[in-house]
Parts: sequence; C-alpha cells; structure tokens
Amino acid sequence: MGLHVSSHPLVLHKLALLRRVESEPKKFRELVREISQFLVYEATADMPLAPYTIQTPLSTMQGHAIGARIGLIPILRAGLGMVEPVIDLLPTAHVWHLGLYRDHNTLEPVTYYNKLPAQPDIDVCLILDPMLATGGSAVAAVDILKAWGAAKIKFLGLIAAPEGVERLQTAHPDVEIHLAALDERLNEQGYIVPGLGDAGDRQFGT
Ligand code: PRP
Ligand code: URA
Repeated sequence: MGLHVSSHPLVLHKLALLRRVESEPKKFRELVREISQFLVYEATADMPLAPYTIQTPLSTMQGHAIGARIGLIPILRAGLGMVEPVIDLLPTAHVWHLGLYRDHNTLEPVTYYNKLPAQPDIDVCLILDPMLATGGSAVAAVDILKAWGAAKIKFLGLIAAPEGVERLQTAHPDVEIHLAALDERLNEQGYIVPGLGDAGDRQFGT
C-alpha cells in the first residue's frame, strides 16, 4: 500500500524518450499514451472481479468481468492525454474532468472546473495527472473527491517529486500513488528536476 514506482523496462525505455527535449508534441503525446496504459495495468491489479458464465465454441465456463465502477478524474489540462489510453482499457469507466491550475506565484492550485454530479456513482476513482510536483493539485483533487463521497481513490502520474509524494501521503495516506518515476527534487520555480518540463505545454505545443 502507498507508493508504487514502476520498474518495468518498457516504462523506463519510454520514459527516457518522453523526457528528452527533442520529443515534439506528437511524439510526446504518443509516449504519454503508451506509459499511461502500463501504469493503469499496474494500478488495476487489485480490482475486484465479478464472475459470470460465458459460452466458448466448445463449452461453457466461468469468465470474469471487472467488478467495480471506475471513474477517471483527469486534471486539466495535462491529465487529458492520459484519458484516451486508459479508457481504451477500461471502456465502461466514467470520466469526470477537474480543472485545476497552479498559480505561478504561490504554486497553490486554483479550481476552475468541477461538474461532479451530486452523488458519487463510482466505486474507484483514478486521478490522472502526469506531474506530482508540490502535491498541491493532487491534494486539492483528493479533497474534492472525498468531499463528494468517493471511497477509494488512486493517483496515477508519470513523474513525481519527493516533496509532492510526501505532501499527498501526509494529507491522504489512504490514497495509493502509481508512478512511472520518482525524481530528485523540485527547483525554485516548483518544477520537477530532472523531470520533463511543463507536461501541458509539451503535449499541446503551447
Ligand atoms: C501541472 C500538472 C499538475 C500540476 C502539478 O498543471 O499537470 O496538475 O502542475 O503541480 P503541483 O503538484 O505543484 O500542484 P498546471 O498547473 O501546469 O496546469 P496545466 O496542466 O493546465 O498546464
Ligand atoms: N507541472 C509540470 O507540468 N511540470 C513540472 O515539473 C511541475 C509541475
């Protein structure tokens, strides 16, 4: 329970390409897609199963379906690139966007979009955001989901700083964190070092 940092060779290979300054937005988006699928594969390893009977060409047998209602919570903007690859693997998942941006001066998150319905209609929330830097945005997202009534929440990110992991774990020790990499530190501007720069800008060419 707690922190899971992938050590899969394919993740490490693709992460190096993602970080490289030469990876232009099209390549960057492709790599975000690919790494997100590996991450969600690992993050859903403990999902409950619902058995049901299926018919093969030769006989009947017991098959399994995912037995939880899953909600994907992408944090705008940068989390958008993680939605399609994840929902491709979890096609019945609901998607609830949360708009948060970091104030450039204070580095504190500002909420600008939240259309969660009155009652939670999902069992497991997967927060999708490539970067966990100071942890302010992730903590704010979990605060919002818990106030909404979400019971089980996991955070899926590509790269984190130790400062962000600590802040999220301190505020919400029950939230599992799944990462492709845990980097060295934050710089004075709150960017992850070595990191990959601004994940939103690199995906969208801004
Ligand atoms: C980035 C990133 C996270 C946040 C992480 O978003 O996608 O949401 O920063 O930083 P934190 O851990 O210090 O809160 P940003 O605010 O740059 O917005 P954007 O995705 O719209 O570019
Ligand atoms: N947000 C980003 O996109 N990159 C960082 O390094 C930190 C926050």
